[in-house]
Amino acid sequence: METGLNYTTLWNALPYPAMVVNSENRILAFNTAAEQIFSVSERSVRGQLLENYASHGSRLMTLIAQSRSANGSVSERDIEINWTTSEIKQLNVQVTKLHDSGGSDALLVVMQPGSIAEKMTRRLMHRDAARSVTGMAAALSHEIKNPLAAISGAAQLLQMSAADGEVELCELIQEESARIQRLVGRMEHFTDSRPVEKHPVNLHDALRKTCRAAQVGFGANVTFFEYYDPSLPNTSGDRDQLAQAFQNLVKNASEAVGEGGTIMLKTAYRPGIRLSGADGHERQSLPLEVTISDNGPGIPEDFAPHIFEPFVTSKSGGAGLGLALVSKIIADHGGTIECESGSGRTTFRMLLPVHP
Ligand SMILES: Nc1ncnc2c1ncn2[C@@H]1O[C@H](COP(=O)(O)OP(=O)(O)OP(=O)(O)O)[C@@H](O)[C@H]1O
Ligand SMILES: [Mg+2]
Repeated sequence: METGLNYTTLWNALPYPAMVVNSENRILAFNTAAEQIFSVSERSVRGQLLENYASHGSRLMTLIAQSRSANGSVSERDIEINWTTSEIKQLNVQVTKLHDSGGSDALLVVMQPGSIAEKMTRRLMHRDAARSVTGMAAALSHEIKNPLAAISGAAQLLQMSAADGEVELCELIQEESARIQRLVGRMEHFTDSRPVEKHPVNLHDALRKTCRAAQVGFGANVTFFEYYDPSLPNTSGDRDQLAQAFQNLVKNASEAVGEGGTIMLKTAYRPGIRLSGADGHERQSLPLEVTISDNGPGIPEDFAPHIFEPFVTSKSGGAGLGLALVSKIIADHGGTIECESGSGRTTFRMLLPVHP
């Protein structure tokens, strides 16, 4: 077949790191993506034994041996590759026997950065975290609200005939009851399991509304930057719920940056982004990207995987419900949310579908 293509050009244009090893595990080819991820040139690895770079007995070496004995293709997700010239990488690896090389037993090893796969799993995990509050919130609000109203009412009655030192105690009971009532009220947002009604929603309206409200309230001492793609199509759902999600994110950002900090709200159209359905087949396009980022101190690495879980908080007065609700709202709208945080920048990125 004459394609007019130069196969070296194709090999090096592959977006995934790949290499070919012979029957002795000597590296015959190493593409540009592999050079980049492992910080080593093809020239220096070509002809070398793979064992010199990936330790003997590692998962990669085992996978290669398995592919040889199976005489076919094997793959595994999230393998840790401890390549001597780079830091440890988490990659999905596929090893395929190359049958056209005159029985030479050469293998093609293709690696895919695991982060995409992992991110998808993490995004789906958030949804479960939010769901776990739902049942509990329903039970709590039922079991707590009525007795609490009675306690508060009784304290109010007592206060009328209370002696001097007792008035304060009656007030304390009422204040604390009100605090629990507010908490239960917030948890009730989780109990609504009806599907969201799909109305066209202009994301910029929701974002502007959030931003204006923040500027005169909790974000009064923060500078806001807004970069909106004017051609962004509408998404589908409930504008107030989406505004509530954005508000929770902007509130967290304001609390993180403190006085003089900056918060950026941004939208973009990313047509390439799709999410696989639970069955792994059905794919949904999520091209509307909303990012809310701040220049606060960031989220500690060991804390970050848990921030979307309910009741996880680092704040003395916090309930840890803000992000769990954001996660529920975005999931109810068919979207995803993820967070990236380093020192000096924290970004929450949401992907949402277009209104049909
Ligand atoms: N922009 C941010 N920068 C740094 N840390 C953040 C940011 N957003 C969230 N966090 C961390 O995630 C935790 C959970 O956030 P979440 O909004 O769920 O709860 P909360 O803000 O603590 O309480 P609540 O929102 O219920 O009042 C926060 O306590 C904080 O530690
Ligand atoms: Mg919060």
